[in-house]
Order: sequence, then structure tokens, then C-alpha cells
Amino acid sequence: MSEPIVTVRGLSVDFHTRDGVVKAVQDLDLDLHPSRTLALLGESGSGKSVTAQAIMGLLDSPPARITAGSVRFRGVDLLQASAAERREANGGGISMVFQDSLSALNPVYTVGGQIAELLRVRRGMSRRAAWDRAVELIDHVRIPAPARRAKDYPHQFSGGMRQRIMIALAIALEPSVLIADEPTTALDVTVQAQIMELLLDLQRENGMGLMLITHDLGVVAEVADDIAVMYAGRVVEKGGVHELFADPAHPYTRGLLRSVPRVDRADSTLWAIPGSPPNLLDLGEGCAFRERCDTAVGVCAVERPALARPVADAGSRLAACHRSEEVVHGRA
Ligand SMILES: Nc1ncnc2c1ncn2[C@@H]1O[C@H](COP(=O)(O)OP(=O)(O)OP(=O)(O)O)[C@@H](O)[C@H]1O
Ligand SMILES: [Mg+2]
Repeated sequence: MSEPIVTVRGLSVDFHTRDGVVKAVQDLDLDLHPSRTLALLGESGSGKSVTAQAIMGLLDSPPARITAGSVRFRGVDLLQASAAERREANGGGISMVFQDSLSALNPVYTVGGQIAELLRVRRGMSRRAAWDRAVELIDHVRIPAPARRAKDYPHQFSGGMRQRIMIALAIALEPSVLIADEPTTALDVTVQAQIMELLLDLQRENGMGLMLITHDLGVVAEVADDIAVMYAGRVVEKGGVHELFADPAHPYTRGLLRSVPRVDRADSTLWAIPGSPPNLLDLGEGCAFRERCDTAVGVCAVERPALARPVADAGSRLAACHRSEEVVHGRA
């Protein structure tokens, strides 16, 4: 595998709230590789968006505080970077597509104007050249009649089309990494598939590394190369998509995969992981998943399991479970 373009090491993010300190992300390691797609999975509140925002430098402090870790991009730790280095990284380096395209786009400027403005400010292009390039980009994300549509305002586009505009904006500075935080959640399935297809085509064209945050395991199975599963702010399992789907080594991953409805099996009642997410204000000792885990034993309450290889021959996959060996072998 190629060298990673972005390496996240030991990232920890707290939020200081009236009720106390929320441990949103803890000791997180991730690698993003060119031309590969990493899917970040986990239930609501597990820290996926906070991770993305920390990488992008978008967390407001306060309330957020990055208490430890590094986010390296081309040898520079973005968490220690100067404003100029950060701008450089967020320009041609790392770019992000958000779920909510309506609030991410400026309602009072035409979409072409917004893309052109970015190119003028960040690439020093002339007004004319920036506009022409904006139209090209709108064409590139497959919006019909791009020269005309460039003059329309965000509200004049459907949700799916607006998401394409967001993608055009995100790729305008030719990033080497694109982070997409639930880019298709608000869209119907046909449009979802088209947007995913577009992202993958763009990735194939220019070798972008893609980090995809999604709840859609069908999409993950189809597009991801690697998966990191988060639970209560930590990565609890990560590895290649095939080994993880075929043979999850963490009971939470196993539950997540079981909760996907299947039409190809007679016994497919909709299954949900029992219990509720842990309180991030007070995680205590031991494994954060233990109270919802059907495999937990005594040690799980007192010792937090480290991410480790579950079985000697299990490829590159890592899981944080005292009982992952039994989970993998179906004995748990
Ligand atoms: N501004 C904030 N102030 C306080 N707590 C916050 C803030 N932003 C996020 N959090 C907390 O951090 C935790 C992680 O949130 P995050 O948005 O990363 O979840 P997520 O995995 O993206 O969930 P979802 O799937 O619902 O988008 C949550 O418990 C959330 O309440
Ligand atoms: Mg989120």
C-alpha cells in the first residue's frame, strides 16, 4: 500500500460544557491513503464528525479542546500549523463535503460566483478565468447546462444538484484528500447512488484519498477499501472492508452488521443493538461497550482493551476487545 497522505495519531478532543467534560474523541489513529476510501462508522454521537472537524481545523475552541495528538499532512502537523500552513492544507490539501448543502452554501451568491470567488482568492485567478473554471467544474459534476446554471442561486437547485455544487466547490482547489461527512444522507436512494458514483469517479481521476462518514453499510460494502468503527469516541475496530464484513472481531461491529436489514434471509427481523450509548461525561474504567455487550466478562469492567490484532493470522485488522479471538471464531 502507498504511504498515507494524512496520518492522525493519538487525537483526543474534549468539549467543555456546563455539565462537565465530554470526551468526544480519544486517542484516535487513522491513515488516509491516496486513491483509497476509508469509511468511518459508528452510531450517532460516537465522534465521527468531531474527528472530521478536527482534521479540517473547524472545531471552535471553546467549547472544543484538542488535548492530544497530531494530524500530519505532507509532513506538517496541522494541529501545530500556522494560519498560513493551515490555509494551504485546506486549499489544495484537504477538503470537505458536508451533509447540509443548503447551510454550507451562501444563499446570496450564485453558485458559479461562489466557486469563482474561491479560485480568485486562493488561486489568484482573474475574474474571467475563475468564472470559466467554475463553469467547467459545474459541468464536471454533471450538472446539465452548466454555463446557465452557474448563474443560479443555491435555492434554485434540488438537494442532489446542490450536493453536486458542494462537491464542485470542494474539488475546485484540487485537494488530495476529500472528507465527506454523510454526503448523501438527505437524498433519495437513486440520487445517493449518483453522488457516490461521482465521488468515486473523481477519486479515480485524480487519486484523491477519501474519508467517508456514513450510516449506510450498503454504500460502505460497495465503495470502502478500509473501515474504522468508532464507539464512544474511540476506534474499536479497523481493517480492510472484506475481513471486517466477513468476520467482525468486535461485538459492536458484529452488532452493527447484524442491524442491517436483509431481504435475502427469511429470519431477517430488524435487529438493534440493545441499550443506549454510554455517557461521554463519565466513561469510567473498562470497555465502554461492556454494558451492551453479550460477550462481556469480568475483565471488561476493569480494564479497557487496547486495539490489537485479534488473532495471529488475521491480516492487518485491529480490534479493541478482550474477547475478540472468541468473537472471530464464533465462540463468544
Ligand atoms: N459543540 C459541542 N459542544 C458539546 N458537545 C459536543 C459539541 N459537538 C459535538 N459534541 C459531542 O461530541 C460527541 C461526538 O459528536 P459527533 O458530532 O462527532 O458525533 P457523530 O458520530 O458525528 O454522530 P452523528 O452520526 O449523529 O453525526 C457527541 O457526544 C456530541 O454531543
Ligand atoms: Mg456527525
